[in-house]
Amino acid sequence: MQAVGRLTPRSGFELRYGMASVREVQRDYSLTGVETSVAIASGLANGQWWQADISPARLKELSARSNGRAAIDMTLWVVLLVGSGILAWTLRSSWWALPAFGIYGALYGGAADARWHECGHGTAFKSGRLNDLFYYPACFMLARQPLFWRWSHFRHHTDTIVRGRDAEIVFQRPASIPKTLFAFTHLSGGPQMMAGTVRTALGQLTDVDRELIPPDDLRRLVTHARIFASIWLAAVVASVATATLWPVLFIGGPTIYGAWLVLFFGLTQHAGLQENVLDHRYSTRTVLMNPVFRFLYLNMNYHVEHHMFPTVPYYNLPRLHAEIRDQLAPPNPNTVHAYREIFNAFKHQSVDPDWEIPDRQVPELPGRRAQIAQVTEWAGADGRTDLGPSDLEPGELRPVRIDGVDFVLARTDEGDHVLADRMCTHGEADLASGLVLGCEIECPKHNGRFDLRTGEPTRKPVREPLGVRPVSVSNGRLYLG
Ligand code: FES
Repeated sequence: MQAVGRLTPRSGFELRYGMASVREVQRDYSLTGVETSVAIASGLANGQWWQADISPARLKELSARSNGRAAIDMTLWVVLLVGSGILAWTLRSSWWALPAFGIYGALYGGAADARWHECGHGTAFKSGRLNDLFYYPACFMLARQPLFWRWSHFRHHTDTIVRGRDAEIVFQRPASIPKTLFAFTHLSGGPQMMAGTVRTALGQLTDVDRELIPPDDLRRLVTHARIFASIWLAAVVASVATATLWPVLFIGGPTIYGAWLVLFFGLTQHAGLQENVLDHRYSTRTVLMNPVFRFLYLNMNYHVEHHMFPTVPYYNLPRLHAEIRDQLAPPNPNTVHAYREIFNAFKHQSVDPDWEIPDRQVPELPGRRAQIAQVTEWAGADGRTDLGPSDLEPGELRPVRIDGVDFVLARTDEGDHVLADRMCTHGEADLASGLVLGCEIECPKHNGRFDLRTGEPTRKPVREPLGVRPVSVSNGRLYLG
């Protein structure tokens, strides 16, 4: 799928910003600028996204998490990390230390990214504590402030590549190939992120911190930053005291010299693709990769699938891909192909920021949301609302409408029935396409969770309780109350 150049004679960029040269005007990607107002006014912010059609039962199956499977991958990563570190130390007096440090750095400052990501979603392990156990160290390795990045990633999933809303648009337009290549060194980004953490440690919060993070999380943001900054300071002091670079080459330094791997994989996710579109098939890329890359990247090469169904853990993404690939754009067949496409797009977008990769071959299909909208309506009778036959399987969800109001009927894995509000209290995602996990329901958008028995939030980002009502079973039928 070779992209072909196309220059629009009078682009939307020119219409929006006047006729100034694209090299003179940078698009506004800030979260508080003109594009933010545009995104909100046009319905792009917190919009309804296209989803591939997949049966709820199959999605639930694919969304199952396994402590054992994640433990194998995490243990292998830790063993390789420690092993390469020991090797680098053993070889420190020879030039062979260089490749050993190269591997150590890539595992530390590069492969940590995928671990950070999966554990941040809470989908790697079944256990929330095990996810946290790896989330915080991975944040440290990447110099990412844990709460800032947790909340910014929620926003990335809400408003993927929507200008003025998504804080994680790394490759902005007009594209710049020299800047992109320089980004691989992380010589600018790495020190900036570390300096930002130090500023937070000193209590200096930014407008973006306050925009993204709820006020009661700000204190913990500062605490984490102080812990991270203290460890870096200890490594620097140790280096000064021993008059060697070894301490910083092992701690802190790999955040910079190993980060090329984050860029190497991360560039393939959205770079060169369409902004401001509520369909991941246009803004996100799936690339078929070899098993080594997929281990380092934890299958995030199936990036369209991940964005569309974030409840599915990384080890099930290849199966999800097989299930829905006919509804998506064809994947890039390999990494080289993806890079050709990206740099060709950058070449055009450096001149015309409105240039898009032509012919993504996205099939025109109604998608899942249209089918979920087919709700069952039941009228009230004798003071009790009849919710239909009690044929829900444990873990099943069914959208229902009562007197014109939408709800979701859920059956917990324990077998109890509950009638819950259909919209998530965080971002108004449709819980009818969520996931029942035991007695909880997980939101399909940001993996926030509610206890179905009480409606109380049990996992961020949800903070407001969900309305839930008990449902009884009588003579094979369900009744509200
Ligand atoms: S919309 Fe964010 S957790 Fe539901």
